[in-house]
Amino acid sequence: MSDPQPDRPRRRPRYSGKNPRRFEEKYKEHAPDRYAADVAKVLASGKTPAGMHRPIMVREILEVLAPQPGEIAVDCTLGYGGHAQEILSAIRPDGRLLGLDADPLELPKTEARLRTLGFPPETLAVHRMNFAGLAQLLSREAPDGADVILADLGVSSMQIDNPARGFTFKTAGPLDLRMNPDRGQPASALLATLTAPKLERLLTENADEPHAPLLASALLRTPITTTTALAAAIREALGAVPRCAPDDSVRRVFQALRIAVNDEFAALDTFLRHLPGCLRPGGRVAILTFHSGEDRRVKHAFKTGAQDGLYAEIARDVVRPGAEEVRANPRSSSAKLRWARKSE
Ligand SMILES: C[S@@+](CC[C@H](N)C(=O)[O-])C[C@H]1O[C@@H](n2cnc3c(N)ncnc32)[C@H](O)[C@@H]1O
Repeated sequence: MSDPQPDRPRRRPRYSGKNPRRFEEKYKEHAPDRYAADVAKVLASGKTPAGMHRPIMVREILEVLAPQPGEIAVDCTLGYGGHAQEILSAIRPDGRLLGLDADPLELPKTEARLRTLGFPPETLAVHRMNFAGLAQLLSREAPDGADVILADLGVSSMQIDNPARGFTFKTAGPLDLRMNPDRGQPASALLATLTAPKLERLLTENADEPHAPLLASALLRTPITTTTALAAAIREALGAVPRCAPDDSVRRVFQALRIAVNDEFAALDTFLRHLPGCLRPGGRVAILTFHSGEDRRVKHAFKTGAQDGLYAEIARDVVRPGAEEVRANPRSSSAKLRWARKSE
């Protein structure tokens, strides 16, 4: 049956207060094409609109990658496609970008957005996969390797902001934390299988958590299935500890569990091991990391690659975002950029 009043405007979703607070209520931010002025206001206030990710250190990344017309590029962590969009513009005409991401929920939206921006399948090929498998993909798609490779590690703002994904402790949601919810187990299930010594090791190795022994026993007393329940249990366990910032521990525990359920260090190690073979002679790679466990691995791989003669040049020091970017986008504050250039 047809709609009797097709032109009637849709009612805005109901929410309490003047402005929507919950992720799913922010209908204007979810439709930036229709509400461009409202979205611009959110951006100007230093916040990231719901359903969007602001690319970090774009200028610095383009400078070190120096993508040229006709080149083959790989964005290992496509996310919202902000970096990819810039690289695609630089490799036109005749260039080709392979965009990878493990997230089956966000990837189709990003692909659709990039197609609308005018990047057809001959220019942009999207692959839902873990970047640990990059070498196999390139052996099929670009056997001589890529000129440019980018990896912007960690999670996107779309993943963090959506409570249903379980990455944020600010809003209640299932304790999941998987980038690909079709694989592996959610963090709640992982917690349920751990012993205190194993959880203590996980918190120390993945996030340098100083209160790991105390938290390891406190967090296994009862099953924890939601993000807010985990945050509350951490705050309660640390309540009597002098000079402690419980929310820093909450962040670190979430990070440690996220790294574990997504097997992030194993993926990064495999990627770094195969990286020199994925680059053409003279090819450039840039990697953005967000915590010391990641940066240590990248630094070590580049250093040994340079000693072995695989890289002609590597970043001497880590590159950090400027004060202006950190002010405009606080999520960039912990970013560290390293780069390398393959020998000719
Ligand atoms: C920080 S975001 C990237 C944002 C992107 N540079 C942009 O401009 O929108 C990181 C993305 O990498 C993806 N990711 C993280 N680890 C991955 C892995 N091992 N393999 C594939 N994708 C991964 C996440 O799902 C997320 O979408």
